[in-house]
Amino acid sequence: MRRTAAKMLGLLLVTLPLALAAERDVLNICMDAKHHKVKPGPEGRLYKQCEPWRDNACCTANTSVHAHNDQSYLYNFNWNHCGIMSEKCKRHFIQDTCLYECSPNLGPWIQKVDRSWRKERVIDVPICKADCDEWWEDCRHDLTCKSNWAKGWNWSSGSNQCPSGSKCQPFGDVFPTARDLCEKVWSNSYSFTEHPRGSGLCMSLWFKAGLNPNPNQRVARHYALQKGLISYSGLAWPSPLLLGFNLLLGLTPFLSLS
Ligand SMILES: *[C@@H]1O[C@H](CO)[C@@H](O)[C@H](O)[C@H]1NC(C)=O
Ligand SMILES: *[C@@H]1O[C@H](CO)[C@@H](O)[C@H](O)[C@H]1NC(C)=O
Repeated sequence: MRRTAAKMLGLLLVTLPLALAAERDVLNICMDAKHHKVKPGPEGRLYKQCEPWRDNACCTANTSVHAHNDQSYLYNFNWNHCGIMSEKCKRHFIQDTCLYECSPNLGPWIQKVDRSWRKERVIDVPICKADCDEWWEDCRHDLTCKSNWAKGWNWSSGSNQCPSGSKCQPFGDVFPTARDLCEKVWSNSYSFTEHPRGSGLCMSLWFKAGLNPNPNQRVARHYALQKGLISYSGLAWPSPLLLGFNLLLGLTPFLSLS
Protein backbone atom coordinates (compact mmCIF):
# COMPACT_ATOMS: atom_id res chain seq x y z
CA MET A 1 0.00 0.00 0.00
CA ARG A 2 2.79 2.38 0.93
CA ARG A 3 4.56 1.63 -2.34
CA THR A 4 1.41 2.46 -4.29
CA ALA A 5 1.05 5.74 -2.46
CA ALA A 6 4.66 6.60 -3.21
CA LYS A 7 4.12 5.71 -6.86
CA MET A 8 1.05 7.92 -7.04
CA LEU A 9 2.89 10.82 -5.49
CA GLY A 10 5.77 10.25 -7.90
CA LEU A 11 3.47 10.31 -10.90
CA LEU A 12 1.75 13.40 -9.59
CA LEU A 13 5.06 15.18 -9.24
CA VAL A 14 6.04 14.21 -12.77
CA THR A 15 2.79 15.01 -14.58
CA LEU A 16 1.75 18.16 -12.75
CA PRO A 17 4.58 20.41 -13.97
CA LEU A 18 4.10 19.03 -17.49
CA ALA A 19 0.41 19.89 -17.45
CA LEU A 20 1.11 23.36 -16.10
CA ALA A 21 3.76 24.00 -18.71
CA ALA A 22 1.32 22.93 -21.45
CA GLU A 23 -1.23 25.38 -20.06
CA ARG A 24 1.16 28.28 -20.30
CA ASP A 25 2.25 27.20 -23.78
CA VAL A 26 -1.15 27.32 -25.40
CA LEU A 27 -1.41 30.98 -24.35
CA ASN A 28 1.99 31.98 -25.69
CA ILE A 29 3.01 29.96 -28.70
CA CYS A 30 4.12 30.15 -32.33
CA MET A 31 2.68 27.73 -34.85
CA ASP A 32 5.02 25.43 -36.72
CA ALA A 33 4.78 27.05 -40.15
CA LYS A 34 6.95 28.56 -42.87
CA HIS A 35 8.35 31.75 -41.30
CA HIS A 36 7.38 31.61 -37.62
CA LYS A 37 9.94 31.83 -34.85
CA VAL A 38 10.22 28.76 -32.62
CA LYS A 39 9.05 30.77 -29.61
CA PRO A 40 7.47 34.21 -29.16
CA GLY A 41 9.68 37.00 -27.89
CA PRO A 42 10.29 40.75 -28.07
CA GLU A 43 11.47 42.15 -31.40
CA GLY A 44 12.38 45.71 -30.49
CA ARG A 45 11.18 46.98 -33.81
CA LEU A 46 8.64 45.60 -36.24
CA TYR A 47 7.75 47.22 -39.51
CA LYS A 48 4.69 49.52 -39.86
CA GLN A 49 1.43 47.57 -39.52
CA CYS A 50 3.10 44.71 -37.61
CA GLU A 51 4.30 47.13 -34.92
CA PRO A 52 1.56 46.24 -32.35
CA TRP A 53 3.20 42.83 -31.80
CA ARG A 54 6.72 44.10 -31.13
CA ASP A 55 6.71 43.31 -27.37
CA ASN A 56 6.01 39.64 -27.95
CA ALA A 57 6.00 38.34 -31.51
CA CYS A 58 6.23 35.15 -33.55
CA CYS A 59 7.55 37.10 -36.55
CA THR A 60 11.05 38.42 -37.07
CA ALA A 61 11.65 42.03 -38.10
CA ASN A 62 12.56 40.68 -41.54
CA THR A 63 9.20 38.90 -41.89
CA SER A 64 7.37 42.06 -40.77
CA VAL A 65 9.01 44.05 -43.58
CA HIS A 66 8.16 41.47 -46.22
CA ALA A 67 4.56 41.24 -44.98
CA HIS A 68 4.09 44.68 -46.55
CA ASN A 69 5.41 43.79 -50.01
CA ASP A 70 3.57 42.72 -53.13
CA GLN A 71 4.52 39.20 -54.14
CA SER A 72 6.89 39.09 -51.21
CA TYR A 73 9.44 36.37 -50.65
CA LEU A 74 7.14 35.06 -47.85
CA TYR A 75 4.66 33.25 -50.12
CA ASN A 76 5.01 34.90 -53.54
CA PHE A 77 1.35 35.73 -53.20
CA ASN A 78 0.03 38.11 -55.82
CA TRP A 79 -2.63 40.48 -54.46
CA ASN A 80 -2.95 41.98 -57.95
CA HIS A 81 -4.30 38.89 -59.70
CA CYS A 82 -7.25 40.87 -61.13
CA GLY A 83 -5.62 44.25 -61.62
CA ILE A 84 -3.95 46.36 -58.95
CA MET A 85 -5.53 45.95 -55.52
CA SER A 86 -6.42 49.30 -53.95
CA GLU A 87 -4.30 50.48 -51.02
CA LYS A 88 -7.29 50.71 -48.69
CA CYS A 89 -8.15 47.07 -49.40
CA LYS A 90 -4.58 45.82 -49.32
CA ARG A 91 -3.89 47.22 -45.85
CA HIS A 92 -6.38 44.70 -44.45
CA PHE A 93 -4.55 41.82 -46.10
CA ILE A 94 -1.28 43.19 -44.72
CA GLN A 95 -2.82 43.37 -41.25
CA ASP A 96 -4.10 39.83 -41.64
CA THR A 97 -0.57 38.74 -42.61
CA CYS A 98 0.86 40.53 -39.53
CA LEU A 99 -1.61 38.74 -37.24
CA TYR A 100 -0.88 35.39 -38.88
CA GLU A 101 2.91 35.78 -38.75
CA CYS A 102 3.31 37.69 -35.48
CA SER A 103 0.55 36.77 -33.04
CA PRO A 104 1.56 34.58 -30.07
CA ASN A 105 -2.14 34.30 -29.11
CA LEU A 106 -3.44 31.86 -31.73
CA GLY A 107 -2.71 28.74 -29.66
CA PRO A 108 -6.33 27.66 -29.08
CA TRP A 109 -6.95 27.47 -32.85
CA ILE A 110 -3.76 25.76 -34.06
CA GLN A 111 -4.31 22.46 -35.90
CA LYS A 112 -1.90 20.04 -37.51
CA VAL A 113 -1.80 19.96 -41.32
CA ASP A 114 0.07 17.81 -43.77
CA ARG A 115 1.61 20.32 -46.16
CA SER A 116 5.16 20.58 -47.44
CA TRP A 117 5.49 24.22 -46.36
CA ARG A 118 3.85 24.13 -42.95
CA LYS A 119 2.96 21.59 -40.28
CA GLU A 120 0.33 23.70 -38.54
CA ARG A 121 -2.38 26.22 -39.42
CA VAL A 122 -5.22 27.97 -37.59
CA ILE A 123 -8.91 27.19 -37.98
CA ASP A 124 -11.95 29.27 -36.95
CA VAL A 125 -10.15 32.10 -35.16
CA PRO A 126 -13.11 34.26 -33.99
CA ILE A 127 -12.63 37.63 -35.67
CA CYS A 128 -14.26 40.81 -34.30
CA LYS A 129 -17.22 42.07 -36.30
CA ALA A 130 -15.70 45.50 -36.97
CA ASP A 131 -12.41 44.05 -38.23
CA CYS A 132 -14.27 41.88 -40.72
CA ASP A 133 -16.89 44.48 -41.73
CA GLU A 134 -14.24 47.14 -42.42
CA TRP A 135 -12.15 44.66 -44.41
CA TRP A 136 -15.14 43.82 -46.58
CA GLU A 137 -16.27 47.45 -46.94
CA ASP A 138 -12.78 48.57 -48.04
CA CYS A 139 -12.41 45.72 -50.56
CA ARG A 140 -15.90 45.39 -52.01
CA HIS A 141 -15.07 47.32 -55.19
CA ASP A 142 -11.76 45.54 -55.80
CA LEU A 143 -11.70 42.53 -58.10
CA THR A 144 -10.89 38.87 -57.59
CA CYS A 145 -11.56 35.59 -59.39
CA LYS A 146 -11.76 33.18 -56.43
CA SER A 147 -13.42 32.91 -53.04
CA ASN A 148 -10.87 30.48 -51.55
CA TRP A 149 -7.43 31.98 -51.89
CA ALA A 150 -5.73 29.09 -50.10
CA LYS A 151 -5.93 26.73 -53.07
CA GLY A 152 -6.82 26.27 -56.71
CA TRP A 153 -4.52 28.89 -58.25
CA ASN A 154 -2.36 28.42 -61.31
CA TRP A 155 1.16 28.67 -59.85
CA SER A 156 3.01 27.77 -63.06
CA SER A 157 4.48 31.28 -63.38
CA GLY A 158 5.83 31.21 -59.79
CA SER A 159 3.07 33.37 -58.34
CA ASN A 160 -0.66 32.78 -58.22
CA GLN A 161 -2.67 33.51 -61.38
CA CYS A 162 -6.40 33.11 -61.83
CA PRO A 163 -7.18 29.54 -62.94
CA SER A 164 -8.44 29.23 -66.50
CA GLY A 165 -12.19 29.49 -66.73
CA SER A 166 -12.48 31.86 -63.75
CA LYS A 167 -13.36 35.52 -64.24
CA CYS A 168 -12.53 38.68 -62.32
CA GLN A 169 -15.51 40.11 -60.44
CA PRO A 170 -16.03 42.62 -57.63
CA PHE A 171 -15.30 41.25 -54.13
CA GLY A 172 -18.90 42.17 -53.30
CA ASP A 173 -20.11 39.53 -55.80
CA VAL A 174 -17.54 36.86 -54.92
CA PHE A 175 -18.10 37.46 -51.19
CA PRO A 176 -21.71 38.66 -50.77
CA THR A 177 -21.24 39.37 -47.05
CA ALA A 178 -18.40 40.28 -44.70
CA ARG A 179 -18.75 36.83 -43.16
CA ASP A 180 -18.16 35.23 -46.60
CA LEU A 181 -14.95 37.18 -47.04
CA CYS A 182 -13.42 36.47 -43.63
CA GLU A 183 -14.39 32.81 -43.48
CA LYS A 184 -13.82 31.76 -47.09
CA VAL A 185 -10.77 33.69 -48.22
CA TRP A 186 -8.27 31.62 -46.17
CA SER A 187 -10.29 28.40 -46.02
CA ASN A 188 -11.91 28.95 -42.59
CA SER A 189 -8.88 30.35 -40.81
CA TYR A 190 -11.35 32.88 -39.37
CA SER A 191 -14.82 32.54 -38.06
CA PHE A 192 -17.00 35.67 -38.19
CA THR A 193 -18.44 36.88 -34.89
CA GLU A 194 -20.93 39.56 -33.86
CA HIS A 195 -18.65 40.55 -30.96
CA PRO A 196 -17.28 44.10 -30.78
CA ARG A 197 -13.55 44.87 -30.50
CA GLY A 198 -12.51 45.04 -26.86
CA SER A 199 -15.22 42.58 -25.75
CA GLY A 200 -12.61 39.96 -24.88
CA LEU A 201 -14.59 37.51 -27.02
CA CYS A 202 -13.01 38.07 -30.45
CA MET A 203 -9.55 38.53 -31.94
CA SER A 204 -8.64 41.95 -33.30
CA LEU A 205 -6.54 42.45 -36.39
CA TRP A 206 -6.14 46.10 -35.48
CA PHE A 207 -5.00 47.38 -32.11
CA LYS A 208 -2.67 50.09 -30.86
CA ALA A 209 1.06 49.44 -30.57
CA GLY A 210 2.42 49.52 -27.02
CA LEU A 211 -0.43 47.62 -25.36
CA ASN A 212 1.17 45.00 -23.14
CA PRO A 213 -0.33 42.48 -22.84
CA ASN A 214 -1.99 42.90 -26.21
CA PRO A 215 -5.81 42.68 -26.12
CA ASN A 216 -5.91 39.31 -27.90
CA GLN A 217 -4.22 37.61 -24.95
CA ARG A 218 -7.33 37.51 -22.79
CA VAL A 219 -9.38 36.36 -25.78
CA ALA A 220 -7.04 33.38 -26.18
CA ARG A 221 -7.38 32.63 -22.46
CA HIS A 222 -11.18 32.78 -22.66
CA TYR A 223 -11.36 30.28 -25.54
CA ALA A 224 -8.61 28.02 -24.19
CA LEU A 225 -10.66 27.71 -21.03
CA GLN A 226 -13.86 27.10 -22.99
CA LYS A 227 -12.17 24.42 -25.13
CA GLY A 228 -10.78 22.74 -22.00
CA LEU A 229 -7.18 23.39 -23.10
CA ILE A 230 -6.41 25.03 -19.78
CA SER A 231 -8.01 24.78 -16.37
CA TYR A 232 -9.20 27.71 -14.31
CA SER A 233 -7.81 30.94 -15.89
CA GLY A 234 -4.54 29.27 -16.83
CA LEU A 235 -3.04 30.42 -13.54
CA ALA A 236 0.38 28.95 -12.89
CA TRP A 237 -0.52 26.99 -9.78
CA PRO A 238 -2.44 23.77 -9.22
CA SER A 239 -6.16 24.03 -9.66
CA PRO A 240 -8.44 21.41 -8.05
CA LEU A 241 -9.44 20.21 -11.50
CA LEU A 242 -5.88 19.63 -12.59
CA LEU A 243 -5.04 17.94 -9.31
CA GLY A 244 -7.98 15.61 -9.85
CA PHE A 245 -6.76 14.84 -13.34
CA ASN A 246 -3.28 14.08 -12.08
CA LEU A 247 -4.63 11.88 -9.30
CA LEU A 248 -6.54 9.94 -11.93
CA LEU A 249 -3.41 9.53 -14.02
CA GLY A 250 -1.58 8.43 -10.91
CA LEU A 251 -4.26 5.90 -10.09
CA THR A 252 -4.43 4.33 -13.53
CA PRO A 253 -1.37 2.04 -13.24
CA PHE A 254 -2.48 1.05 -9.76
CA LEU A 255 -5.92 0.04 -11.03
CA SER A 256 -4.58 -1.93 -13.97
CA LEU A 257 -2.08 -3.77 -11.75
CA SER A 258 -4.65 -4.89 -9.21
C1 LIG B 1 15.30 38.28 -44.98
O1 LIG B 1 14.67 38.48 -46.19
C2 LIG B 1 15.38 38.07 -47.34
C3 LIG B 1 14.60 38.45 -48.56
O2 LIG B 1 14.77 39.80 -48.81
C4 LIG B 1 15.66 36.60 -47.28
O3 LIG B 1 16.31 36.15 -48.45
C5 LIG B 1 16.52 36.33 -46.05
O4 LIG B 1 16.76 34.95 -45.94
C6 LIG B 1 15.83 36.85 -44.81
N1 LIG B 1 16.77 36.81 -43.70
C7 LIG B 1 16.59 36.04 -42.65
C8 LIG B 1 17.62 36.14 -41.57
O5 LIG B 1 15.61 35.33 -42.52
C1 LIG C 1 -1.41 28.38 -66.17
O1 LIG C 1 -0.92 29.60 -66.67
C2 LIG C 1 -0.07 29.48 -67.81
C3 LIG C 1 0.39 30.87 -68.16
O2 LIG C 1 1.03 31.49 -67.06
C4 LIG C 1 -0.86 28.83 -68.95
O3 LIG C 1 0.01 28.67 -70.05
C5 LIG C 1 -1.42 27.51 -68.50
O4 LIG C 1 -2.24 26.98 -69.53
C6 LIG C 1 -2.22 27.67 -67.25
N1 LIG C 1 -2.65 26.38 -66.77
C7 LIG C 1 -3.92 26.13 -66.39
C8 LIG C 1 -4.20 24.75 -65.92
O5 LIG C 1 -4.78 26.97 -66.42
